Amino acid sequence: MDRESQIQTEFIEKYGSVIDEDMMEKLAEAAQHRKDGDYVVFENVRKVYHVGEVDIEALADATFGVNKGELAVVVGESGAGKTTLLNILGGMDTLTSGRVILDGKEISKMSMRELTEYRRYDIGFVFQFYNLVQNLTALENVSLATQICKNPLDPAETLRAVGLGDRMNNFPGQLSGGEQQRVAIARALAKNPKLLLCDEPTGALDYNTGKQILQLLQDQARNSGTTVIIITHNKAITPMADRVISVRSGRVQDVVVNSSPVPISEIEW
Ligand SMILES: Nc1ncnc2c1ncn2[C@@H]1O[C@H](COP(=O)(O)OP(=O)(O)O)[C@@H](O)[C@H]1O
Ligand SMILES: [Mg+2]
Repeated sequence: MDRESQIQTEFIEKYGSVIDEDMMEKLAEAAQHRKDGDYVVFENVRKVYHVGEVDIEALADATFGVNKGELAVVVGESGAGKTTLLNILGGMDTLTSGRVILDGKEISKMSMRELTEYRRYDIGFVFQFYNLVQNLTALENVSLATQICKNPLDPAETLRAVGLGDRMNNFPGQLSGGEQQRVAIARALAKNPKLLLCDEPTGALDYNTGKQILQLLQDQARNSGTTVIIITHNKAITPMADRVISVRSGRVQDVVVNSSPVPISEIEW
């Protein structure tokens, strides 16, 4: 049975009537967006910011899913709602309506205290400008993060895994931008999180260094089974992803599953 007849049959069973074409299209679209991604579920998420008298709808109606171990790229122009989406997923912001689920737990229902735990144990965050503690060494930055976790990885081991075995005792100011971002990635990974969220992780890096960081993130999803979500405005890098989620004006426009993602070294932009 094709998807349309399947939906039609289910609908008749449930509601006893046939769906009209318009509704059919909407249901098919919703099913398409969810397309077998069930580890991370974002369902009809709306987010409105109130600024003085003005309401700003950062997310209008965003629906998508991501599977465990996937590398997903969320792509869209500036102002599309990408950061809002990632912050909600990371428990750093709340939503106006809709549902967000990670690994069967509904984040959108959590209390402030539960969200604190969620950020602490389940989420690793990588920011555009690294956000390292300047007066701590690379090793100390990573160790600090692991002190608040349940099953952290070994900090030194994690730094070696991102290629910084010989820079552990350097302060951030003694490291290049690319190396600082590696420390930030090690810090997020050492928490052993369920989800690694990266907001424009190469935004402050030069072309080649940016490529190396993306390669590191791709390897991480491939080899360690970490679920990684990268936000970018750069459409060119989307062939590296298992799943590409396109966002525009606060809506998910399109979700494409890539059956054969390419190594970042093969992508030029
Ligand atoms: N804290 C906030 N208060 C008010 N408006 C916000 C806030 N955060 C984001 N916005 C607005 O929501 C929209 C989406 O922003 P954002 O999620 O940062 O987009 P992107 O990351 O894709 O550039 C923009 O119009 C932005 O100005
Ligand atoms: Mg942003």
